[in-house]
Amino acid sequence: MREDTGPHQVAVIPGDGIGPEVIEAALAVLRATGVPLEFQRYQAGDECLEKQGTALPPETLAGALAAEAVLFGAVGKTAAEVILRLRRELNTFVNLRPTRAFPGVDCLYPELKLVIVRENTEGLYSGLEDEITPGVVTATRVITQAASQRIARFAFEYALRNGFGQVTAIHKANVLQKSDGLFLRAARAVAAEYPQIEYQEALVDSTAMNLVLRPERFQILLTPNLFGDILSDLAAGLVGGLGLCPSANLGDKHALFEPVHGSAPDIAGRNIANPTAAILCGAMLLRHFGELASAERVERALEQAIAAGQGTTDLGGSLSTTEMAQAVIGRMP
Ligand code: NAI
Ligand code: MG
Repeated sequence: MREDTGPHQVAVIPGDGIGPEVIEAALAVLRATGVPLEFQRYQAGDECLEKQGTALPPETLAGALAAEAVLFGAVGKTAAEVILRLRRELNTFVNLRPTRAFPGVDCLYPELKLVIVRENTEGLYSGLEDEITPGVVTATRVITQAASQRIARFAFEYALRNGFGQVTAIHKANVLQKSDGLFLRAARAVAAEYPQIEYQEALVDSTAMNLVLRPERFQILLTPNLFGDILSDLAAGLVGGLGLCPSANLGDKHALFEPVHGSAPDIAGRNIANPTAAILCGAMLLRHFGELASAERVERALEQAIAAGQGTTDLGGSLSTTEMAQAVIGRMP
């Protein structure tokens, strides 16, 4: 619990490409809520590497560690050095990726709502790659009981608190018998403590197909690191694209909010990126601070704007990034 009543301290890392464009839009919406927030900006990413010789300067890391929350845009080629490192340093062991359709957006599943709860500290993203001899490279996939249990517990608690009745553990234990075997045993042990939540298991490859054919079978997908990364982009495709999907990296002490998408070099610098994911990150940040009413105001205004056709071109609209943010602000009560 915070003791002082000053503004919440938020570290803002806009990054590269469309990162700064969508983050500006999100900041405009956050300012319009009137919630006392203080934003401190930091550099990171490809451009930062060019200018400063490092993609994640020490002051950026220190700023992220000192802030109450981080709002992150996207970086380009330096993603591993920047975002993976930040997730590790902040020990944000959960990567929470809610995916939902918006009325008015042409997509495969206009009713879809599902949540990916992705383990965020280990798996194939442990940073353990090695060229053991020229022409042979290994990548170590680390799965631990402690991290698997911790992420499973988060998934079930999240289900309970948010009215979901089912959790599906995603795995490839038929091939990765030891590592995903351990992941599943941990998930089962936690599932046994939540008899009110239905628990199922599904192979990652058939899940990719089933998400396309019958996604309504799923509510919460509990995944190791890599599978969650891949399936969350697939899920984004079901509801109308990456421009719509926010994520939260959560730990015991730190929280970092970022769109699922990257720096989108193909559309960067043109003020046409969809700011929805970044604005939804802002709403998640407000919720994290306990500002539920403001978070809902933002989400309702965004829904209304999208439904009224006030969206960017990827949504079938004709607004620029900044115009869409203004349209959302204009609809905030
Ligand atoms: P991407 O997410 O940047 O783009 C994929 C496609 O979706 C592109 O066609 C792009 O135009 C579109 N798109 C993404 N966000 C959009 C938005 N807000 N509005 C409208 N369209 C949007 O993924 P890609 O192309 O695979 O990667 C580009 C760069 O981003 C790479 O250098 C990659 O390393 C980096 N990246 C960084 C991430 C991070 O910072 N967390 C995450 C994913 C990729
Ligand atoms: Mg990804």
